[in-house]
Amino acid sequence: MSSLLIKNGTVVTATDHYQADIFVQDEQVQAIGKNLDYSADRTLDAHGCYVIPGGIDPHTHMELPFMGTYASDTFYSGTLAGLHGGTTSIIDFAIQSHGKSLNHAVDSWHEKADGHAVGDYAFHCAVTDFNDDTKKEIPSIINECGINSFKIFMAYKGALMVDDGQIFQLMEELVEHGGIMTTHAENGDMVEQLVNRFLAEGKTAPKYHVLSRPPECEAEASGRVIDLANQTGSALYIVHMTCEEALQRVKAATLRNQKVHAETCIQYLTLDESLYFQEGFEGAKVVMSPPLRKEKDQEALWAGIRQNLVHTVATDHCPFCMDQKAMGIDNFSKIPNGMPGVEHRLELMYSKGVLEGRISLNKFVETTSTAAAKIFGLFPRKGTIAVGSDADIVIFDPEVKHTISVDTHHMNCDYSAYEGWELTGKCRTTILRGKVVVDEGKADVEEGYGQYLSRGPFNPHY
Ligand code: URP
Ligand code: ZN
Ligand code: ZN
Repeated sequence: MSSLLIKNGTVVTATDHYQADIFVQDEQVQAIGKNLDYSADRTLDAHGCYVIPGGIDPHTHMELPFMGTYASDTFYSGTLAGLHGGTTSIIDFAIQSHGKSLNHAVDSWHEKADGHAVGDYAFHCAVTDFNDDTKKEIPSIINECGINSFKIFMAYKGALMVDDGQIFQLMEELVEHGGIMTTHAENGDMVEQLVNRFLAEGKTAPKYHVLSRPPECEAEASGRVIDLANQTGSALYIVHMTCEEALQRVKAATLRNQKVHAETCIQYLTLDESLYFQEGFEGAKVVMSPPLRKEKDQEALWAGIRQNLVHTVATDHCPFCMDQKAMGIDNFSKIPNGMPGVEHRLELMYSKGVLEGRISLNKFVETTSTAAAKIFGLFPRKGTIAVGSDADIVIFDPEVKHTISVDTHHMNCDYSAYEGWELTGKCRTTILRGKVVVDEGKADVEEGYGQYLSRGPFNPHY
């Protein structure tokens, strides 16, 4: 029963911004106020710092078996890296294997995470093989496994992709039982045609990855899944949106009074497609799907955030080391898709979003924490600083300058797409359920400290 007093900081939530002290006991916030006078086991001085809710990354892939290899971060290393960068909770994807049940997927993700993660974690359940047996599992996945969000892939044909009939039926089940559909929206057939054409022409370099996944491919699938959701009445969350054309489909949906949740990722706001056109194999570092886009798409996404069309900023953390990326040295379509990111999301959002005048401090908190908590049923336990909430708190020093580098990051990946980037603003202290887990770059947390976050049925009113 340890206690903690955080003094003299500026508390920032998705809605508020004020000077206060915070008293924490039994893993939760017990009091917030001016000049609090509690005696505590430990006192932290947050003078000159923002005190913000711990980040929630709603899109990660720890130890994902994918494209013939595994994402290189474990739940231990990946959540530890997250804690260094102020992310105290993640939502990872438990992905069904063909021929196996959803429960099997959830069990195997628990095996990877339980007793190992150091940050808190929840799961989305990715449905890759929807059939009558899968259908029967939906109520128990929601009510017994504590998972209300289901993912489908409209791409990765022959591996993870499902067809429109499966999407439609799954949506109907989610409406009935209280789930939300999350979607990787790319037209897998269009991708397949373009990939095969480039390969037949001997075009194998990383740049053909972006050329085989044009914005039309993402926009078409986004529009299609939005229409399917409108028809079935399903709640919908489109993951890793990258481009203006896809965002236009969301805008169009709002005009007919349909609510669509959209996520983008920090890399789509900060990096662009020119990286694919570098010499040699360098572009493989940013091979991910959908691919990076143009600067005009970044500006559209930032505008979408300001206009409440884009709700969350995730990472799609899915790291592969360069020897893994080399699986596609002679064929871009074999480069494992994904990049590391879980560690630097908050700091990049602050530097590029708040300091460069694109978003407010409140929006920074909303997109990195609060909105994910609300959409996925973790609020108000997570995603805010309030009496009774879990004491997941970051003391963020807005003055500290630092440089991102593979030499100092904690992710298990031998490169950073942000190598040498100079940022202002750093997570000084990360607190998870009242425990100081990282302070001034030093971690103090035992393997397995992270807890599984069981969630109730989807609540459409948050
Ligand atoms: O390239 C990506 N995004 N890799 C991870 C799997 C996915 O599509 O989210
Ligand atoms: Zn995806
Ligand atoms: Zn993903």
